[in-house]
Amino acid sequence: KLPYAEPFRIKMVENIQQSTREQREQWLKEADYNLFNLKSSQVFIDLLTDSGTGAMSDQQWAALMTGDESYAGSRSFQELQSTVERITGFPYLLPTHQGRAAENVLFSVLVKEGDVVPGNSHFDTTKGHIEFRKAHAIDCTIDEAFDINDLYPFKGNIDLNKLEEVYKSHPKENIPFCLVTVTCNSSGGQPVSLENIKAVRELSNKYGIPVYFDSARFAENAYFVQQREEGQKERSIKEICKEMFSYGDGMTMSSKKDGLVNIGGFIALNNQEVFEKASNFTIIYEGFITYGGMAGRDMAALAVGLDEATESAYLESRISQVEYLGNKLIEYGVPVQKPIGGHAVFVDALSFLPNISREEFPAQTLGLELYIEAGIRGVEIGTLLADRDPETRENRYPKLELLRLAIPRRTYTNNHMDYIAAAVSNVYERRNDITKGYKIVKEPAILRHFTVKLDKA
Ligand code: F0G
Repeated sequence: KLPYAEPFRIKMVENIQQSTREQREQWLKEADYNLFNLKSSQVFIDLLTDSGTGAMSDQQWAALMTGDESYAGSRSFQELQSTVERITGFPYLLPTHQGRAAENVLFSVLVKEGDVVPGNSHFDTTKGHIEFRKAHAIDCTIDEAFDINDLYPFKGNIDLNKLEEVYKSHPKENIPFCLVTVTCNSSGGQPVSLENIKAVRELSNKYGIPVYFDSARFAENAYFVQQREEGQKERSIKEICKEMFSYGDGMTMSSKKDGLVNIGGFIALNNQEVFEKASNFTIIYEGFITYGGMAGRDMAALAVGLDEATESAYLESRISQVEYLGNKLIEYGVPVQKPIGGHAVFVDALSFLPNISREEFPAQTLGLELYIEAGIRGVEIGTLLADRDPETRENRYPKLELLRLAIPRRTYTNNHMDYIAAAVSNVYERRNDITKGYKIVKEPAILRHFTVKLDKA
């Protein structure tokens, strides 16, 4: 067997620059120890997110040139609509400017004060849009997800007992839907099995509750299903996607991930009534229903991107690269969430930095140390991200305290992965000298991690 190689070659490059440790220490101070405040020019390898940071293909750039910028009835919208319907089976499409905008529009129709929305570790903007409406997100992820060393292949799965408990303990009118996030970002880019999705559908049918997908990384989820689930090896990614979406009533999408574009999102639905109500909110918040905040050319590039993202060869190279980095870190003894997820490697900060108390934000501390070490920017998935409880205003301490190293799609080479692994390993070597974390100086009411100001504790 031959070794694996990327199914593309590189046609255009963008220079990135190294800096010195002294420069980085100064820049961090100026950034109030919040990595979101750094200028991109101050970062050598940017692993803040895999969202909107990927490289488009020549075919997507070509599609961009032929976009139809008509306000209503754009041909590019038609192309996008037919592609989305072909891949997901959902006939009704509403474009939005990104994923959280899709959440805002859909939840304006479906979520009201006092509601509960069960699901598998809702993403932070999703939870934000639920809590902003004075409703609650209930995490029903299986317990295996919270043990980083458990090798269960589908750690994004929903625990059916926890879900049924929610269905039994709340009136039906207060459960607008169950939300399945594929892959589950917050628990480590971990996939949900087709079997689990089907079982969630059946249980939800029993209680009359709709099922929606947060589909940002649906193609990566389908790849894991193909590779890991019994009886799926011979099926194409597109077949698996079609079956998966057949168990839902609709989806929100952040096209910045598996749409392989830099900006965009959409809602796709089965239900005409929900579509009509959501159309009104789209017009108020986003734009007319055939563009919803997107340029025609961006819809054209997205239509091509959705097809490319659901090809096996692309997904194999994508997921293998993330796994390559994860395996290097495991070799160096660094504690990471296992199995390695689809879009990122998640480093376990609690066991990496046992000397830092949770009040001093271990995952944030690790992120800052890695930046100082090598100019690499990751992101904290821990207590800062988890925000305060909306009622008690106390810090919420999530089960895991992680540093996410998100890998942009088709952007970095495996030499970059080697560099990242060596940098993390260097920090790991000097972990016992890291004894002080950080404290909050100023924070906003919700989604604080984006703008929080910190100082050395
Ligand atoms: N759902 C999931 C699972 C996400 O990961 C994101 C974004 C969204 C919804 C919101 O989409 O950014 O287009 O508004 N995740 C990015 C990240 C920001 O870094 O993980 P958006």
